[in-house]
Amino acid sequence: MAERKTTLLEAKGVCMYFGGLKAVEEVDMQIKQGDIFGIIGPNGAGKTTFFNVCTGIYPPTKGKIFFEGQDITGVSPEKAAQLRIARTFQNLQLFKFMTVLDNVKIGCHIKTKSNLLDAIVHTKQYKQDEEYTTEKSLDILRSIGLHEYRDAKAGNLSYGMQRKVEIARALALDPKILLLDEPAAGMNPQETKSLMEFIKMLNQDGYTIAVIEHDMKFVMNSCNHILVLNFGKKIFEGSPDQVKVNQEVQSAYFGRGLVAGEALK
Ligand SMILES: Nc1ncnc2c1ncn2[C@@H]1O[C@H](COP(=O)(O)OP(=O)(O)O)[C@@H](O)[C@H]1O
Ligand SMILES: [Mg+2]
Repeated sequence: MAERKTTLLEAKGVCMYFGGLKAVEEVDMQIKQGDIFGIIGPNGAGKTTFFNVCTGIYPPTKGKIFFEGQDITGVSPEKAAQLRIARTFQNLQLFKFMTVLDNVKIGCHIKTKSNLLDAIVHTKQYKQDEEYTTEKSLDILRSIGLHEYRDAKAGNLSYGMQRKVEIARALALDPKILLLDEPAAGMNPQETKSLMEFIKMLNQDGYTIAVIEHDMKFVMNSCNHILVLNFGKKIFEGSPDQVKVNQEVQSAYFGRGLVAGEALK
């Protein structure tokens, strides 16, 4: 596991209120280069909202977000993508009637040069971009084990596979950081295990990853640092071993009807 060094994505005192509801309250976070950074917490703890603020979906009510030391508070999602902050969504955001390959190619387009006119008249630039994005997308599909499904309609794949297509599309952006919102949701144990191995492999290839996940085995086995949210607030952060034995974390899960030992195994 890489040592925690340079800070890549930082949140300082981030708050996100929806009317009177404090979905995220004064959260500080530092994701370092090379981390597999886990975010856990019961349902409704504010995890997805926090990701949404970090990726420009919502400007925070208060607080600041920095990426590579630059203040990116309130930038648009498109700008965040241009900065190569890539993410997947808890509720899948695939184009279900398009092929797997085309879904991944969309991820490349933010980086290519051709515009709509190039596409309509099929300029040389467009052809070059098209070849590049196709090859690149196929490479990513190969690495994630979905190459043979490249021509299938995304909506016809299993839920677990659709999640992988979303990750493939995020990778097409050449992300500096990859934020995954419950990537293992809907996956069977075998799929979850292979996803975990894939994420570790990406990390070894140099990707910094932040992951929201309910599967504790997944989190405890893959993350080097974990942030725990409850009712919008950070209640703890530390290594998997520190999180496992922390009383407040135990009771946050215990209080929601989960057996603590089960949740944090
Ligand atoms: N756009 C929104 N408008 C109003 N309330 C929201 C919105 N998004 C999330 N919430 C509320 O914020 C809280 C945190 O939600 P969420 O971030 O989805 O939690 P988690 O991902 O940890 O399950 C919940 O009470 C949720 O209902
Ligand atoms: Mg969520």
